[in-house]
Amino acid sequence: MTDKKVVPYQEMEASKKEQIEMMFDNVAPRYDLLNRIISLGIDKHWRRKAIDILAPLEPQRILDVATGTGDFALATLSLEPKEIVGVDISTQMLAVAREKINKKKVGDIVKLKVGDAENLPFEDNSFDAITVAFGVRNFENLDKGLKELNRVLRKDGKLVVLELTRPGKFPMKQLYDFYAMRILPLIGRLISKDQNAYSYLPESIRAFPEGQAFIQHLEQCSFQATEWMPLTFGACSIYTGTK
Ligand SMILES: C[S@@+](CC[C@H](N)C(=O)[O-])C[C@H]1O[C@@H](n2cnc3c(N)ncnc32)[C@H](O)[C@@H]1O
Repeated sequence: MTDKKVVPYQEMEASKKEQIEMMFDNVAPRYDLLNRIISLGIDKHWRRKAIDILAPLEPQRILDVATGTGDFALATLSLEPKEIVGVDISTQMLAVAREKINKKKVGDIVKLKVGDAENLPFEDNSFDAITVAFGVRNFENLDKGLKELNRVLRKDGKLVVLELTRPGKFPMKQLYDFYAMRILPLIGRLISKDQNAYSYLPESIRAFPEGQAFIQHLEQCSFQATEWMPLTFGACSIYTGTK
């Protein structure tokens, strides 16, 4: 972790949370397109892997935190749960998610709620499984968020976190650094029209605890049987823990 505050709009006084909300409200209409381009379409495969981990649990109530435009929440429909709740601080991201849910006519199963991961609007022990894809890196206070996830998860329930990480080995490390620091902000700027959003992305990945360091946060926040699995040469990682 670096000491520099990693936020989307360095020159602004607003808190990280306010800036994150603003940034995702800005990029919401183009977020899905950018996701496919930037991840070269691999993001769907990563979500699939994470969902496969939950299958043996047969979760009936699933919470998707930082649900954004709802792709992860919708993908968990394959687990045939009774209810999926997607929660996010960005109303514009949720507006895109709502359109998809309406189009698929799954509104009776997939519910959306505006809410903050660090102060979740749910009772203790409410969910059998919790998913978070590319969200924890954006929390203002990581441990506060993880403790909240633990609070609303039922005993023996499972948390699955997907997060972007950095490949550690030659030559993928060098290729990745070039892509993340040079190409990605350029594509992001051109398509999202937000000057800062896609420079924040590689900077926030660089500053975020990964691998064993993230596992330590999970354990400090009372998760047990934690595991970590790198995907695609370490460009993404799946973390799991139970309550
Ligand atoms: C990179 S997007 C990921 C969206 C989605 N999970 C996906 O897989 O595409 C990150 C999302 O996290 C949300 N977010 C960031 N901090 C949050 C918080 N404290 N509580 C709830 N949502 C948050 C943002 O608004 C944004 O929609």
